[in-house]
Amino acid sequence: MSTESCPADHVDRPTDPVSGCPVSAGAAAFDPFGDAYQADPPEAVRWSRDDEPVFYSPSLGYWVVTRYDDVKAVFRDNTTFSPSIALEKITPVSDEAIATLERYDYAMNRTLVNEDEPEHMPRRRVLMGPFTPDRLAHHEPIVRRLTREYVDRFVDVGKADLVDEMLWEVPLTVALHFLGVPEEDMATLRKYSIAHTVNTWGRPSPEEQLTVAENVGKFWQFAGTVVEKLRRDPSGDGWMPYSIRKQREYPDIITDSYLHSMMMAGIVAAHETTANAAANALKLLLENRTVWDELCADPGLIPNAVEECLRHSGSVAAWRRLVTADTTVGGVPVPAGAKLLIVNSSANRDERHFEDPDTVDVRRDNATEHLTFGYGSHQCMGKNLARMELQVFLEELTRRLPHLDLVPGQRFSYVPNTSFRGPEHLWVQWDPAANPERSEPGLLDTRQPVRIGEPTTRGLSRTLTVERVDPTARDVVEITLAEPTGAALPSWSPGAHIELELGEVSRQYSLCGDPEDRSRYRIAVLRDPGSRGGSRYVHDELRPGTSVAVRGPRNHFRLDADTRHHVFVAGGIGITPILAMADAVCAAGGSYELHYCGRSTGTMALLDRVRRDHGPRLHEHVSEAGDRLDVTALLAEPTDGTRIYACGPQRLLSALDGASAHWPGDALRVEHFTTAGHELDPAVEHAFDLTLADSGLTVRVAPDQTVLAALRAANIDVPSDCEEGLCGTCEAPVLGGEVDHRDVVLTRSERSAGTRMMTCCSRACGASLTLGL
Ligand code: HEM
Repeated sequence: MSTESCPADHVDRPTDPVSGCPVSAGAAAFDPFGDAYQADPPEAVRWSRDDEPVFYSPSLGYWVVTRYDDVKAVFRDNTTFSPSIALEKITPVSDEAIATLERYDYAMNRTLVNEDEPEHMPRRRVLMGPFTPDRLAHHEPIVRRLTREYVDRFVDVGKADLVDEMLWEVPLTVALHFLGVPEEDMATLRKYSIAHTVNTWGRPSPEEQLTVAENVGKFWQFAGTVVEKLRRDPSGDGWMPYSIRKQREYPDIITDSYLHSMMMAGIVAAHETTANAAANALKLLLENRTVWDELCADPGLIPNAVEECLRHSGSVAAWRRLVTADTTVGGVPVPAGAKLLIVNSSANRDERHFEDPDTVDVRRDNATEHLTFGYGSHQCMGKNLARMELQVFLEELTRRLPHLDLVPGQRFSYVPNTSFRGPEHLWVQWDPAANPERSEPGLLDTRQPVRIGEPTTRGLSRTLTVERVDPTARDVVEITLAEPTGAALPSWSPGAHIELELGEVSRQYSLCGDPEDRSRYRIAVLRDPGSRGGSRYVHDELRPGTSVAVRGPRNHFRLDADTRHHVFVAGGIGITPILAMADAVCAAGGSYELHYCGRSTGTMALLDRVRRDHGPRLHEHVSEAGDRLDVTALLAEPTDGTRIYACGPQRLLSALDGASAHWPGDALRVEHFTTAGHELDPAVEHAFDLTLADSGLTVRVAPDQTVLAALRAANIDVPSDCEEGLCGTCEAPVLGGEVDHRDVVLTRSERSAGTRMMTCCSRACGASLTLGL
């Protein structure tokens, strides 16, 4: 291609040494309609995530964005990155196809997903009612009934194409119910909606374009007929009758053109996305048999498994935005008028955001942070309906057909397009004689409660076996835990902890083993004389061979990459995370010093290992030997680029906090395992408003409600974990208003900057807060 016509910034981009073209070989070869992308989009752009996360594709005429932070940043800013081209045909249409569409008066217009502000948000707000969790709960019985009926049809056959025999039609029927249109004409609709996908996101040949145009034209006319039918009696249930009723109140916001276009786009939005997501999920789980078996054994894992499937193998592989002003994406200059293909499926496998991203881990605690539903003000309105359907499908199939297998040797085909992705067929087989319901008919009456909305990570434990119990100091044991099946455990980074369920209580312990060893976790536990059960249980009950339920790993105490010198301070058993961090910095050749404080050497856990591995950098502070750590002297001089990482008794942490008051606010990083005062007392709290800048909503927080709960009730997803202000998962950006911080995550300077808050516990000082959600 000629460099004159290339929109890439030639000055800032290195040219190919061979061709002299500023477009790299990977970018030149990128083909989203090719086999590699169709089979596995995130894998096909792995090279880009690694080496060139924002590139111009000359063959597509789009800039392609593949890393998590960049994709999310584009979704967030719907002014600089307009959604107006989301439904534009990605392949130019032939004159004949245009003529065909004209014959049908095809006039697909803006709906929601491709509408700019200021039109979009008022419309979204007016039409949100049927999507709230309360209203969605009414749809569960029909989802369950349909799923059962379809499974009944093939359960005794022994072989089925799950797409043809269930996963395509159930979401279609649910979509029609949700929209409030009659159930008739399903077979025709099926053909139509595929045509719409190819028409919008595919590359049909000139001959195919005509057939596609015929079907799209018929779909358009059908949609118009249904709207007219509903207009005559808009009293029924469903989103379309609701929209028609709202049109009477807000005729300028809910226009005729919107209604007709949405009737068609709504079916596709609600149907194909979900059908494909279900097929992808079943395929993924059956390909990862041990994961499938785990779901069969513990259906409580299903809500998070749905998120993990959407993350790993979602049904919307990429989305589009139009650049409205010269800007940069991931530091790369991109001109006004450029079109972006934001590959959200690639973002979902970005190791910079998700640990071990290619592994399917149904216990992953940030699985819900996937971008398959988009993000920001246009984020999928139907996400909770889709989640409900996927949960019910997985629940019914794992319970009734746990012995399901993929038919070996089948080749999976995909409708070639950039965005909507799911196998066209999914052949499975099983032995009907082994169907559990034959020997246990009561099985059909059991069911798992559906979780409407984002799953919590509570209850996502895995059962590990105690491999060793080794005394490592007075009243301290080192426990080695292993996966009984020998399967690899999720990877972890220094500073991470796991949570053990110990009888009635659960307790968090930092990992102190080798992160490279994926077969076991190691922790060290001090017997606390005041223990309410946790450490007592560990010391008295855990023996080699004992099973223990473990959650995590999770990390709220990470090393900051930009630290030039690390001051590690450990008090007593606080050595555990500090040792893993010091090991990592030592292995990387970083600069550090390690201060280990204890009453006597006999009480200092893992001391031999610490001495062996960190001898030259180690400062032992043994109080019985009169060698207490002088924190004031240690922190007398603030040094640029130095951070203090500390874990230990509260007394030590408070002393460090006081002694570092003259240091930059984020210099001291501490690990907390407990917090106080997260119980809400409505008698002393006040109500306040949240203005959500990205979503354009105002949400009231009642005195007895957390910000997190109020956001969820308004259908805004915020991931959360501990819900006690400890972990930092539920952080939200604050754009205005003063925050009453009640967490222990943020540093002093982060609190005073007032730009973020933990929504599970922190509140507004005044009458309102503006959040960047
Ligand atoms: C928007 C994905 C199911 C209705 C979107 C967007 C994506 C998406 C990527 C654009 C987000 C953005 O631009 O930030 C999915 C997936 C689904 C699913 C993966 C299933 C797994 C549904 C269902 C419905 C629905 C079941 C309806 C009942 C909508 C609507 C929008 C939308 C109305 C436009 C929202 C707006 O622009 O304000 N969806 N969707 N979706 N989706 Fe879904």
